[in-house]
Amino acid sequence: MSLIEWDHAKLSVGIESIDREHQVIVEFINDIAKNINKNAPADYLEMLFDRLISYTQYHFASEEAYFKHLSMQDVLLHRLQHKHFIEQLYAYKMDVHHNVTTVLLDNLLDWFVSHIQSEDRKLIQAINK
Ligand SMILES: [Fe+2]
Ligand SMILES: [Fe+2]
Repeated sequence: MSLIEWDHAKLSVGIESIDREHQVIVEFINDIAKNINKNAPADYLEMLFDRLISYTQYHFASEEAYFKHLSMQDVLLHRLQHKHFIEQLYAYKMDVHHNVTTVLLDNLLDWFVSHIQSEDRKLIQAINK
């Protein structure tokens, strides 16, 4: 079972390529949750985290290319949030042998969804101005 389903009305930022990247990240997190529920081996979960981390880094770089449209304060906040998310992903990957649960992943998704709805939408609005 997925932790969340992609809900276009709730999650779209209005730029198709960014929406697609967000959708892939949600799918990758759901995939990790499904494999935790299936008691998949830790090595396999680590590989899934590596895939999620590298794709998320790619996605953040594609967003950060638009940062020139933001105020310095918004750039700092947005960049800090991206950095925090990547750190969380590395921490979960390190802990995959012990404590990574679907509840933690659910919290991660909550954070990601609220990031999309606040910072990413703010960025897209600034680009469209
Ligand atoms: Fe994003
Ligand atoms: Fe972002």
